Parts: sequence; C-alpha cells; structure tokens
Amino acid sequence: MTQRILFVCLGNICRSPSAEGVVRVKAAQRGVNLNLDSAGTGGWHAGEPPYGPMQKAAKARGYDLSGLRAREVTEGDFGAFDLIVAMDADNMANLRRMQPEGGAEVRLFTDYAPEGSGWTEVPDPYYTRDFDGTLDHVEVCADGLLDALSR
Ligand code: 4NP
Repeated sequence: MTQRILFVCLGNICRSPSAEGVVRVKAAQRGVNLNLDSAGTGGWHAGEPPYGPMQKAAKARGYDLSGLRAREVTEGDFGAFDLIVAMDADNMANLRRMQPEGGAEVRLFTDYAPEGSGWTEVPDPYYTRDFDGTLDHVEVCADGLLDALSR
C-alpha cells in the first residue's frame, strides 16, 4: 500500500519542503512508492516556493525543491495522510492541538534518527542560517524513516 506522508514545520519554506524533497529522491532510489507533501503550522508564506538559500543548498546535494509551494496544514490533512512528521516540538504541539480522533499518526522526524544521535529536532535554518546542517539532519532522518517503513 502506498504510504501517504506529510512533513510539517513552521513556515513550510525551509525544513519540511527539504524533508519532502530528500525523501522523494531517496524513496525513488529504493524503488519505494510514497505519496508525499509538506505544510506549515503557519500560513504566512502560503503560495511561496522554498526559501532561496534553502533551495540553493538542497540543489547542491541533488534535491530540486523549486516546484514546491508553501501551504498551511489543515485538519483535513489528518484524514488525507497516514503519517504526519513534525520537525520540532513546537510543530508537534501545534499538530496535537489540531488532531482529531483517529487519523494520521504524528511523529517527530528525529524519532527516525539513529539511536544515540541525541537529536530532538531538525534545526530551523531560517534562524541558524546553517542550511547544510539542516540538510545533514534531514538526510539522516530520511534514511531512518525509509528503513522504518520497510520493516
Ligand atoms: P521553516 O523555517 O519552518 O523551516 O520553514 C521558517 C521559515 C519562515 C519563518 C519561520 C521559520 N518565518 O517566521 O517567516
């Protein structure tokens, strides 16, 4: 069965579109069929492509984010997706407040990092300005997520 996965951050212009783009490439490399999207808990950037510096850093690693457009997460997403993956604890708390009975499971992306990584969130590069550091986290968590789905 095709798994439907939604990645969620705050603005949907840095972390969650990167997660979507990275998981899309890695899933294709593994021959895994997934239905992927991303959204933000805030809607300020709705309709915008991913943040320029984030796109540039992702492109350098082979991930083209240019076709993505930001949108705000909705209650309907809990019915439209099997799994909603939050980038940090604030995203998670906001999602929990919206979560209806039943519907998508909500997890942190760093839940899929290797044991002992100590990671509790994907750092927000809009504030850290470390776009490569964010991609390092995203790539490792993407592999872990795909490993978990294959088990
Ligand atoms: P993101 O980063 O949640 O990873 O997309 C942010 C982008 C924009 C803002 C905050 C975080 N903002 O406040 O505009």
